[in-house]
Amino acid sequence: MCGIIGYVGEKNLIKVLINGLKKLEYRGYDSSGVAILSGGKIFRHRAVGKILEMEKTLPRKFFSPVEKEKLKIGLAHTRWATHGRPSEENAHPHIDCGEQFVLVHNGIIENYLELKTKLKKHKFQSETDTEIIVHLVEEIYEKTRNVLESLNTVFKEVKGSYAIVLICVNEPGKIFFARKDSPLVLGIGNNENFVASDIPAMLEYTNKFIFLENGDYGFVTDREVKIYNLKNNIEQVRKEHKINWDPVMVERAGYKHFMLKEIYEQPLVVKENIVSRIFAEEINFKDEIKINDKKLKQIKKIFIIACGTSYHAGLVGKYFIEKFAKIPVEVDIASEFRYRDPLIEKDTLVIFISQSGETADTLASLSLVKEYKITTLGICNVIGSTLYREADSTIYTKCGPEIGVASTKAFTGQLVCLYLFGLYLAKIKSVVDKDEYKNLLTSLYKIPAFMEQILNDTNQIKILAKKYSQKHDFLFLGRGINYPIALEGALKLKEISYIHAEGYPAGEMKHGPIALIDKDMPVVVIATKGSLMEKIFSNLEEAKSRNAKIIALINKGSVTKNIDEKVLLPEVEEQFSPLVNVLPLQLLAYYAADILKRDVDQPRNLAKSVTVE
Ligand code: F6R
Repeated sequence: MCGIIGYVGEKNLIKVLINGLKKLEYRGYDSSGVAILSGGKIFRHRAVGKILEMEKTLPRKFFSPVEKEKLKIGLAHTRWATHGRPSEENAHPHIDCGEQFVLVHNGIIENYLELKTKLKKHKFQSETDTEIIVHLVEEIYEKTRNVLESLNTVFKEVKGSYAIVLICVNEPGKIFFARKDSPLVLGIGNNENFVASDIPAMLEYTNKFIFLENGDYGFVTDREVKIYNLKNNIEQVRKEHKINWDPVMVERAGYKHFMLKEIYEQPLVVKENIVSRIFAEEINFKDEIKINDKKLKQIKKIFIIACGTSYHAGLVGKYFIEKFAKIPVEVDIASEFRYRDPLIEKDTLVIFISQSGETADTLASLSLVKEYKITTLGICNVIGSTLYREADSTIYTKCGPEIGVASTKAFTGQLVCLYLFGLYLAKIKSVVDKDEYKNLLTSLYKIPAFMEQILNDTNQIKILAKKYSQKHDFLFLGRGINYPIALEGALKLKEISYIHAEGYPAGEMKHGPIALIDKDMPVVVIATKGSLMEKIFSNLEEAKSRNAKIIALINKGSVTKNIDEKVLLPEVEEQFSPLVNVLPLQLLAYYAADILKRDVDQPRNLAKSVTVE
């Protein structure tokens, strides 16, 4: 939520800032702004709307800072509004009264009203919580005349979450930063340095990164990196990570949208996750899982905590782990878990699933569980993110950067990691039959080819999308391990096409939602072959008797009576069918949204990384 970039170096400043901002646009896009330091003065420009709106109206000054200034320094921000509507005044960067400081922020300042009353002599120009910080820095700086010291004091006064980046006219070669509960990454270059919310903003220029930790503050110049931490205020040594993502990975590569590209990357994601972890018919998490076998054997209960799509992956994990590893699994939405006094006994493992590794509620739940001294495992797509670093062990989902706001490849990456982990546990606990284990691995190996088969012929889905995209409500039904896929299909449709959709366990339909069904209601039924196929066909018939339009995912040879639209899918092992069944539902949402001319990659009101509560 909200994207930040700061740069100091000799490159074309405005190009670095605007390009970086565009790579962060998935984090928020209701307004944006940029500020540079030139001739000892701060120049700022802001605009409402997408970054393009701001870029189009940039004054000439921004393209040619004072000639003699070789070193260029500036910062930029793309906003997802929390406090204060999207407007030019509320857009970042914010400036203090004396125009000595310019600041951008990601997060929420909880005690901003209380702080505002203390800052009576300051003149505020916006309705934001962020502006408080820049005035607070100004106030403290009047006494300290030292920016670092002022930042340290800010930490003590401000409650909430923040990643802040700041420039001070009195210390012109430095970009100051501070972070608590919101992500911030340093990009390390040659005679240049970067500060940003996420790696894609800097990937074009460097592959060396330092992930700041909670309580870190400091500054970068073009040649220096200084990090301190609030706990002892002494200089910290932080590991530099080399990330081998190719800058091309954050381009659309000829696809109309990132989401479509990412849908098509899924067979490769599944393949990567499998082949890198299966050796001689054994699953091996090598350095990823640091929990020894003895401890794993003792696990009596598993909690899985996540939000949104990642939560849906967790639900699939529950069905699979309970069936094969014979351990009870409870799946919780992070925003509920963190406030419900969960009963966690020892010999419990808590798994946190998050694409970004920065989701505020998931991280708050992680902190809570760590207080209980319970073993934690992350399943995460961003190396170096907070979840990645702070869970006891982390499994990396190997998807590469996911840019489309609607999660697709991260979901299938999470599923395959959960499958592998479930089987790994089952093997360690010796609760799975040798042949069954081997057969399951063989079936899993075949999945990427089946996924490719679906993606190679999307015509049937395009036709469906065209026919049904004008409908106002959809129902998605599934059972067993495909019930979470019904939830995911509904979530994808509503978030990018804005069509109302509900996902339901098919057997629960007669307890309420059946009342919604009439001839205008398309009902998408996941009816592929498996242990519950007959049951779901009965549910399908119940919906048809109420005149619903039935769109059914089926396999060759299934009965087609009562089905209005069939989506023929390859037949796969039931346990792994979610990996295949989710594809037509992602595509249906994608094509419907595209037909409706929605902003597929940046749907309204959403942001990719939900770093505030
Ligand atoms: C939906 C979607 C969201 C995320 C959720 C959790 O397409 O992307 O529901 O799944 O915000 O995000 P992560 O996985 O980053 O914790």
